[in-house]
Amino acid sequence: MSKVDIAVLGYGTVGSGVVEVLNTNREKINRRAGKDIHVKYVLDLREFPGDPIQEKLVHDFDIIVNDPDVKVVVEVLGGVEPAYTFVKKALLAGKSVATSNKELVAKHGPELLKIAKEQKQNFFYEASVGGGIPIIRPMFSCLTAEDIDEVSGILNGTTNYILSKMTFERLDFDTVLKEAQEKGYAERNPEADVEGYDACRKIAILSSMVCEKQVEFESIYTEGITKITSEDILYAKKLNRAIKLLARSKMVNGVTYAMVAPFLVAEDHPLYSVNGVFNAIFVHGNMLGDAMFYGRGAGKLPTASAVVADVIDAVKHLGINIQIRWSGEKMEMGDINDSVCAFFVRIPTASLSKAEKVFGKIRTVDAGVKGEIGFVTEPVKESEFARLAAELPMIQRIRLN
Ligand code: HSE
Repeated sequence: MSKVDIAVLGYGTVGSGVVEVLNTNREKINRRAGKDIHVKYVLDLREFPGDPIQEKLVHDFDIIVNDPDVKVVVEVLGGVEPAYTFVKKALLAGKSVATSNKELVAKHGPELLKIAKEQKQNFFYEASVGGGIPIIRPMFSCLTAEDIDEVSGILNGTTNYILSKMTFERLDFDTVLKEAQEKGYAERNPEADVEGYDACRKIAILSSMVCEKQVEFESIYTEGITKITSEDILYAKKLNRAIKLLARSKMVNGVTYAMVAPFLVAEDHPLYSVNGVFNAIFVHGNMLGDAMFYGRGAGKLPTASAVVADVIDAVKHLGINIQIRWSGEKMEMGDINDSVCAFFVRIPTASLSKAEKVFGKIRTVDAGVKGEIGFVTEPVKESEFARLAAELPMIQRIRLN
């Protein structure tokens, strides 16, 4: 079996996972790739004394890009720079790239795919959304006969882990976040998780793949979970719903609306029972109907497994570009103020009659929280809800899916 050299950029959680997956499943991986995949270099600024990786360690990317034996570059540095510069140079040097980097893909996906095509190589990013869950390949391969009108998902493992622990173990936010960090789920800066920025990039990627144009992540309305409290969890239980950070891209009357926000998910929805670090992506197509992709959305080995699968595909297709349609043309998205949903609202009990006057038909919910009451509105436009809610001393509001 002939050998093929690869390089891994970044020896953090995912990078070390890539090396581990390659070592653990070496025989099967090589058989499936048809080549002996050999890690020639690992790029990292740090030293790893005592780790066998030390002998492959380089600190200068030029060594990798100038080595013609390196056919595939794995980019698992995270962040836009220097990842973008390195990936672009690698592709221009005729190498294929596999990445788990959602910031990079969300921002520069179309350009990098174009270069890969021109170079007759590949730019693969299966692990950038949903960690170890196959979702990118289904989008550009298995579901290409579909007209997809909705992609909704739990796309961030850290926040789902936090919300699940808050729900089932009544733990506080900070304790659970620390656990998620220790398990290697969280971003270097966990603000990206808890404020929804990570899920925002991921839904921008999925949404772009659906419309084959560039959905700019900056244009996606994004709320995180930092304002969710233990009282909200009590109300959710009372409503037989679960609070989930949903990333959603949905076409309504020909207009696509995308948003990331906590939602009260109904018990009979498939996303209701997705707990812990698990992610799930719900897709609706006009021929397929509903489909859901479920699995570990974060963590060292699940994410690394998806990266290595990309490496295998890249090795099998050296010199052959696999087309992924995603142009740089900007996708015009619907104004989120025009989207419609029902809202759950918490107010002081004394304001209930005012709420009934302002909102008309509402359904009240009492979770036994002293001095306050909750209610659920009828479906209403976001802009209209904001106008009506401004008349009340609102304690909290959460959308219903
Ligand atoms: N921080 C991310 C998460 C890692 O929690 O889902 C995977 O992208």
